[in-house]
Amino acid sequence: PSEKNFTGIKLYNYQGSWYYPNTVQAILNFQKHFRAQDTDIILASLPKSGTTWLKALAFAVVHRNKYAPNLVSHPLLSDNPHNLVQFLEADLYVKNQRPDLEELPTPRLFATHMPFQTIHESLRDSPCKVVYVCRNIKDVLVSHWHFRNKLVRKDLHSNYSLDDTVDEYIKGAYAFGPFQDQVLSYWKESLVNPTHVLFMRYEEMVEKPEAQVMRLADFLGCSFTEEEKQSGTVEKILELCSIGNLSNLEANKSGTSSCGIAHQAFFRKGGVGDWKNHLTDDMARKLDEMVEKKLEGSGLKFE
Ligand code: A3P
Repeated sequence: PSEKNFTGIKLYNYQGSWYYPNTVQAILNFQKHFRAQDTDIILASLPKSGTTWLKALAFAVVHRNKYAPNLVSHPLLSDNPHNLVQFLEADLYVKNQRPDLEELPTPRLFATHMPFQTIHESLRDSPCKVVYVCRNIKDVLVSHWHFRNKLVRKDLHSNYSLDDTVDEYIKGAYAFGPFQDQVLSYWKESLVNPTHVLFMRYEEMVEKPEAQVMRLADFLGCSFTEEEKQSGTVEKILELCSIGNLSNLEANKSGTSSCGIAHQAFFRKGGVGDWKNHLTDDMARKLDEMVEKKLEGSGLKFE
């Protein structure tokens, strides 16, 4: 089945999610050719759920012995997190049917917006690590609305309205949606296979960043040592990866990522609850009810 999106481009449904045509092709390439290595780390999310933050944190945590977080030449100070950790379907397999990923230094860090069922086969039998970050649907939607209005070409389209965005989210027909199906795919797997999939929440990362970064490091098999904790390595990583720091770097204020989006579009306000400044009570209720209905009985709840 297909549906038109806000710019009039057709989206196609593949394995339960909606995609742009070139993304479907990239996913088919990925499914045909990608083979996970045991040390791989895959960062998964829906757009606007904290992907950029997770990419920066995972990169800084995994490479902290190579690049100390206070190093003046740290890669995160001169490059955008989306260049350092590329999307399988939006960067690697869209540019090249069969990118050469075998020789990349290990651990290889990749990102994806695909749901678990779509990456599952390629990871089968591999003890590689998948980290999923989710965020409440209302903040995701508001963030997405701002993001797309930044991307809209004013010569081709008028502003994209909030009503249209809510309609799309209710229908589920937007790139990588529906939200509730994807979140559930990773949630279920994290329960069945907790050493393979870590389920993180943007809201918890905002509330208790130290604890969440230590949880991430534990899961990735590179726990912080007592000495690192005492010497403030966790805090330095958080400061390096904070929205305030990243969004003010020249590398993120200019340029475009390899998937063609201006780096600065990935940084706006951050935080929790901006939806209250935009959504009506009715919109919020409809979204909440839709998500609650899908998640019923799963043990997963959003405040
Ligand atoms: P807002 O639009 O609500 O501000 P993604 O990276 O998945 O595209 O998500 C983008 C959202 O994460 C935006 O939310 C953006 O401001 C926020 N964000 C980007 N970098 C961040 C960081 N380092 N820390 C916290 N939030 C960040």
